[in-house]
Amino acid sequence: MTDRIILAFESSADETSVAIVKNGNEILSLEIATQIKSHQRFGGIVPEVASRHHIEQITLLVDAALTDAKLTYDDLTAVAVTYGPGLVGALLIGVTAAKTIAWAHGLPLVPVVHMAGHISAAQFVEPIQYPALALMVSGGHTEFVLMESEYEYVVVGDTRDDAVGESYDKVGRTMGLPYPAGKKIDEMAHQGTDEYKLPRALMNDGKLDFSFSGLKSAVINLKHNADQRDEELNLINLATSFQMAVLDILLTKTRQALKTYPVKMLIVAGGVAANQGLRDGLDQLLTEFTHTRLVKVPLQLAGDNAAMIGAAGDIAYRHGERASWDLNAKPGLDF
Ligand code: KG4
Ligand code: ZN
Repeated sequence: MTDRIILAFESSADETSVAIVKNGNEILSLEIATQIKSHQRFGGIVPEVASRHHIEQITLLVDAALTDAKLTYDDLTAVAVTYGPGLVGALLIGVTAAKTIAWAHGLPLVPVVHMAGHISAAQFVEPIQYPALALMVSGGHTEFVLMESEYEYVVVGDTRDDAVGESYDKVGRTMGLPYPAGKKIDEMAHQGTDEYKLPRALMNDGKLDFSFSGLKSAVINLKHNADQRDEELNLINLATSFQMAVLDILLTKTRQALKTYPVKMLIVAGGVAANQGLRDGLDQLLTEFTHTRLVKVPLQLAGDNAAMIGAAGDIAYRHGERASWDLNAKPGLDF
């Protein structure tokens, strides 16, 4: 059997990334150019700035990916690209680069949904066993995705308002931390106590939807009231209280999800899957579900990267998914 070698692109937000993935589970090269520094002084991603950086970086990263993998265009089987969801201008850079290369070299073009990419990063740890459930937690998403088989994605729980990563970033901003704040809050949360006792929404409804906006607003109000009284909040304890509330919500809902869907594998994926408290909490929770195996996407592949797009692209390619040359960026795309 000949190997499938996929050149993959990811440019939906503030990382420009190109990777070459073999047979969906082996990274031959992975290039990531992060733009975080350029967005930090604005406290979040500035779409125009993101697009400009993607344009500057993308062809350099293709060259680097081929060089690192010691391959040429002739070795490639297909080109895969994130076409949504994300920032339209940012997505368009990856889509245009992927189309151009696929067309010029006579390669099939495979469209990939960003979240399918995040989940497929589990393939780099071990083969996914089905049925599988993914806890997909990132700056843009907080959802449970049920997969009865490898090319079936059904969202069975979703956030009603903010995504969990977004609430980390907004709470971080309130605390005066640089964007993105998830990693820093996670570190601080291991050092304090639950002084502020923050609210948890939708905890006992037996359903799989999330809500984080009340929690975020509670932190903003605490800060506002403290400022009015000229008082200082204990930021270590605030980070701890916030993370304890987040973990309580995520773990309670995951317990409910595993009772509802007794799957063979639980995958935790997305930028927030790098959270140490969440990883430890899931290890602990899964001792209650001995028939379900936990796969945590590796820390360096939890955030946005093109290797995960290569892994999802390989599955889509094998299932005959092909984009035509008029493939467009879809900012509001769902599965
Ligand atoms: O998946 P990702 O790179 O981009 C999106 O698709 O959104 O996720 C980025 C998000 C940011 O909100 C960031 O603050 C959060 O992941 N994040 C974390 C941690 N590391 C990154 N959140 C909590 N704890 C972490 N250790
Ligand atoms: Zn992402």
